[in-house]
Amino acid sequence: MDDIVLQTHDDMAREILRDNDRGGHTIPTSGLYPYQWNWDSVFVSLGLAEFDMNRAWRELATLFEAQWPDGMLPHIVFREDNPSYFPGPPVWQADNGPLSSSGITQPPVAASAIVDLARRDPERARPFLRKLDAWHRWFHEARDPDGLGVIAITHPWESGRDNLPDWDAPGAAINVAGVGDYNRRDTDMVVADMRPGKEDYDRYLALVRFGAKRKWNQKIISAESPFFVADPGTTAILLRSERDLASLGRLLDEPVCGVEDRIARLESGFDRFWNPEVENYCAYDLRTGKHAAEATSAGFLALYAGVTKKTGELVRQLEEFDRSVEFMVPSFDPHSPLFDHRRYWRGPVWAHVNFMIARGLSDVGEVAWANRLRSDTAALIRNAGFTEYFSPLSGEGCGGGNFSWTAAVWLAWKLGEVEGFDRWAK
Ligand code: GLC
Repeated sequence: MDDIVLQTHDDMAREILRDNDRGGHTIPTSGLYPYQWNWDSVFVSLGLAEFDMNRAWRELATLFEAQWPDGMLPHIVFREDNPSYFPGPPVWQADNGPLSSSGITQPPVAASAIVDLARRDPERARPFLRKLDAWHRWFHEARDPDGLGVIAITHPWESGRDNLPDWDAPGAAINVAGVGDYNRRDTDMVVADMRPGKEDYDRYLALVRFGAKRKWNQKIISAESPFFVADPGTTAILLRSERDLASLGRLLDEPVCGVEDRIARLESGFDRFWNPEVENYCAYDLRTGKHAAEATSAGFLALYAGVTKKTGELVRQLEEFDRSVEFMVPSFDPHSPLFDHRRYWRGPVWAHVNFMIARGLSDVGEVAWANRLRSDTAALIRNAGFTEYFSPLSGEGCGGGNFSWTAAVWLAWKLGEVEGFDRWAK
């Protein structure tokens, strides 16, 4: 009899990353997301680093090939016009950079990933130092024009947490009258109740048209956009990345001028997110001054950012979330009537967010909680596969399949070493 070779989850994860490789850059999943996405690629580089260091650095290099002259690193890099994704390059009309791209950015996790990779080979990080610095400076100039120490998003997609209920109230100011007819492609591939609704999509498109009309001039967009919302997720990720950029500069003996001031500004600005009624850090609308009224997974990223003064409150909130769900961490407060366990960012668990939250928890010595997130993430993937996201109630795998960042987090977090968490075992 032939030997049966059992494929491990590590093997499967590597296979997904290889299958989604389009020659130097990795797509999130075929069909649904056929281009290179910014923060997806960065997490992918951490997964690749576990088995192919050259390919990991190449992933980051191809992403930075698309950097705009003003420093912005776009959220999607289009190397072709692929009909399976809408809106593609003809809708964005963003030709401000060296490659065709979208006209907005995504959370800047790259510096933190590059510091991790640089521990193994510092010199390979050197070409990225100035590029990271330019991107970070761009965030302060274009997304915090008043120097408040909080980073705004000009489109829900810029947060990476696309249809979070936090964007509902600020989004109501967006005029969707001119969006016209269009053909969304995502709901051809994923059931509609796991994806954003039509109203959300109209707003997304209206904002793309708004930016395209202004030729993606970021100064004008910051000044005039109906949607300008300070995001604790992006701000926390930038703050950690700024600290990592400073340490990269020290490691390479190339100090990064101004980074300490930027860190200090973000540290003090972060307090603005604190919503005492919610006991968590919440987004707030810079046009109206109103805080979002519910807790989300992004608030816990304060610890990842090194903002620790509310550690007790945040851990208490994790405990509260935990009373209502089976798997941590839901992207949105499970006690809220708007919580929706299968719909995109309105409830589900995302592996890469857990990875960052757990890192912050472990930094502040909350090791039991960090381990809990790790074992929950491993259990979800073992039971449902490498899907895009997961229901925190049932563990069901949702969205796209064979998903790159889920595979990458599996490898980078060494989830293959977490044993025996099959909660459905008979
Ligand atoms: C969705 C997610 C975003 C991600 C992209 C590709 O738009 O909300 O965070 O980068 O898909 O996976």
